[in-house]
Amino acid sequence: RLSKAVDDVCEEFVLSPEKMHELTNFFIESMEKGLGQAKEDADYRGLPMIPTYVTGLPNGTESGMLLAADLGGTNFRVCSVELKGNHKFSLLQMKSKIPEELLEDETVTSDALFTYLARRTLAFLNKYHPEYLQNGEKLKMGFTFSYPVNQTSLSSGTLIRWTKGFKIKDTLGKDVVKLYQKHLDDQGMSMIRVVALANDTVGTFLSHCYCSENNGSLTSGEIVEPVMGCIFGTGTNGAYLEKIENVKKLPDEQRAELLQSGKTHMVINTEWGSFDNDLKHLPTTRYDIDIDQKFSSNPGFHLFEKRVSGMFLGEILRNVLLDLFRRGLIFGQYTSEDHLPHRLTTAFELSSEVLSHIEIDDSSQLRETELSILQSLRLPTTYDERIEIQKLVRAISRRSAYLAAVPIAAILTKTGVLNKRYHGEVEIGCDGSVVEYYPGFRSMIRHALALSPIGPEGERKTHLCIAKDGSGVGAALCALVA
Ligand code: BG6
Ligand code: GLC
Repeated sequence: RLSKAVDDVCEEFVLSPEKMHELTNFFIESMEKGLGQAKEDADYRGLPMIPTYVTGLPNGTESGMLLAADLGGTNFRVCSVELKGNHKFSLLQMKSKIPEELLEDETVTSDALFTYLARRTLAFLNKYHPEYLQNGEKLKMGFTFSYPVNQTSLSSGTLIRWTKGFKIKDTLGKDVVKLYQKHLDDQGMSMIRVVALANDTVGTFLSHCYCSENNGSLTSGEIVEPVMGCIFGTGTNGAYLEKIENVKKLPDEQRAELLQSGKTHMVINTEWGSFDNDLKHLPTTRYDIDIDQKFSSNPGFHLFEKRVSGMFLGEILRNVLLDLFRRGLIFGQYTSEDHLPHRLTTAFELSSEVLSHIEIDDSSQLRETELSILQSLRLPTTYDERIEIQKLVRAISRRSAYLAAVPIAAILTKTGVLNKRYHGEVEIGCDGSVVEYYPGFRSMIRHALALSPIGPEGERKTHLCIAKDGSGVGAALCALVA
């Protein structure tokens, strides 16, 4: 009975080629709508498509010494980046895990968060660049802030809403650059000027452009062009280059000014985590609904992210397992839900890292899986149960990767970059724990791309490159042009 029930659940996670086409077409439609949507406020449910005011891409010849700060989903890092001007850079960095209380405690204020960020910045300068603290020499900094902001210029933007778990209310609507700068000043670091604000996808895109030795160069007679930056980590998102004339949401005057000064393109932060928040086309199981409504900190938003990103893969599995238990199909040694190991009944206790071990377990009796589940959830399992759990893990990760291919296919199609030149190839800079570490994730995206409207030929021309730790370098590049 368990096996039949699991097969039925897995079936719900399958995406057919027809569905891939339907989703890709709807993504393109949503991009167009988002580019025209004038006002970005907290109630807007469509694809955000945020203008970033980055109007050019680096080519690897940029040089200089800059600072970068990067608030991601799990870590805050401060780095100094020396761009060498030959696609190479050197980097000094200090990385700290964001303290749990800043993420979990609902009473935490903006002040507490930005005091912490400034304190870590001071610790970095003390350790690696005490000379700047002493001589007060001015230093430009780029700030990577991996949350949706309404960007009003290259160096300012107000938080639309938190994603990936933060809940601090009084940051909403505030300019995050001003907040950070104020706390830097307060802690004696007014020599630092935060001159650029960048989403992590924008940072990843720019740093990939800088580092890619293929960028604009001829390789066996073909041109390889970086076209997009994406993150598949705690959250998921992507940024790409759009024609300014298509960015209808820019105020007319501003658009005319940009065009007049010779700018033709602008990087757009799609915030694709919020694709199809109205669930018109996304595949939706009862587990997805529960996770969004009962367990997430931003119900009704970022519904695409909740099916794709690392923060949610384990949570989906946990919800399926609980459902199977409630239906009397699994973990029969426990007589009631109250007796289950509390980790299995606690939201977000199961991390995608555990799934990544189960995904590729081929040990006898699935011993690896047994250990992983025992360690993470304190839950003993039988061999038969583990076989079923592995099926579920593979169905969940496969759906995630197939969905991940949708925005990529849509952007490649909408921008027409694959047809720009005869034999032209494109590169996509990717970062984030899932694409970097989840076994087979990139090949699953590739399979799905071949089933999407770009087809096998488009898939062959598309290179998914890991742009590891790119967003710091990207923020520095933003600061350089600011
Ligand atoms: C890091 C980048 O490498 O990857 C961050 O520096 C980004 O800016 C992060 O947010 C995404 O990965 P994860 O897995 O930490 O969400
Ligand atoms: C979330 C954030 C987005 C970020 C992504 C990846 O979706 O809203 O800004 O780029 O996570 O970190």
